[in-house]
Amino acid sequence: MAQENGKANGKAKEVIIEVRDVVVGFGSHNVLNHLDLDVYRGEILGFVGGSGAGKSVLMRTIVGLLPKRGGTIKVLGVDMTNGPEAERRAVERRWGVLFQQGALFSSLTVKENIQFPMREYLKLPQGLMDEMAVAKLEMVGLDASVRNKFPSELSGGMTKRVSLARALALDPDIVFLDEPTSGLDPIGAGDFDTLIATLQRTLGLTVFMVTHDLDSLHTVCDRIAVLADGKVIAAGTMETMLASTHPWLRAYFHGKRSRAGHVAEANGQAGNAPIPTP
Ligand SMILES: Nc1ncnc2c1ncn2[C@@H]1O[C@H](COP(=O)(O)OP(=O)(O)O)[C@@H](O)[C@H]1O
Ligand SMILES: [Mg+2]
Repeated sequence: MAQENGKANGKAKEVIIEVRDVVVGFGSHNVLNHLDLDVYRGEILGFVGGSGAGKSVLMRTIVGLLPKRGGTIKVLGVDMTNGPEAERRAVERRWGVLFQQGALFSSLTVKENIQFPMREYLKLPQGLMDEMAVAKLEMVGLDASVRNKFPSELSGGMTKRVSLARALALDPDIVFLDEPTSGLDPIGAGDFDTLIATLQRTLGLTVFMVTHDLDSLHTVCDRIAVLADGKVIAAGTMETMLASTHPWLRAYFHGKRSRAGHVAEANGQAGNAPIPTP
């Protein structure tokens, strides 16, 4: 596997998520088949792969929502299956998650959504949680007045931002984002990418981001990991991906949906639309 050794400035980077030999399946089918992956502290890792490849399954497995059939997952050095319960609980507080579907509870206000993880893990007076919710809204570029709205009153971009605010509720070290810019227009998606990059820098976050968005991969991701056939078939920088001769990588990063395709689209050419054969 083309896994880079993760050394920068001669110093080995700290592995914050270590996935080894992980098998996850449903019925007779294993979606993840002896998968290995390292995520380094402080990086934004873009996780890509075909639709149905198992990207969300891996993310949900890492955060403990799906059972494994084999392998080990260590987060912040703690074995999330066999480690001491108290240590595992402590690690669970150190991450925030933005799920692909139905990110917010529709019956709760924005404020209550953001406070949901706080209620689960922290015992704090309501007044303090109210202040914290407003602070999280500001972090994601939303006005405090949004706090009393219900999810149905929010635009798609605002919903994503509130979901991100909720993921940041416990001041996490690690943030998991499952296709955070899907459904946003390109400007909204670009703004969201900028927000993620800014938060990563200012808060020192490690970001695991499932994405189909090649612009995100180019602009905000430090490294990219590619999932195919139940395994991470390549992991490295965008330069590594672009230089690879692997057929899947060539089709994905040089195909019509790649940057070259976007440039063509901006010039009024085919771009993302299927290119008619002459
Ligand atoms: N809870 C589940 N029960 C059965 N099959 C599932 C479940 N979750 C995901 N799958 C299957 O696992 C495969 C990978 O799904 P998923 O991780 O959602 O793909 P993606 O890479 O698009 O995020 C798909 O074939 C999906 O149907
Ligand atoms: Mg998915």
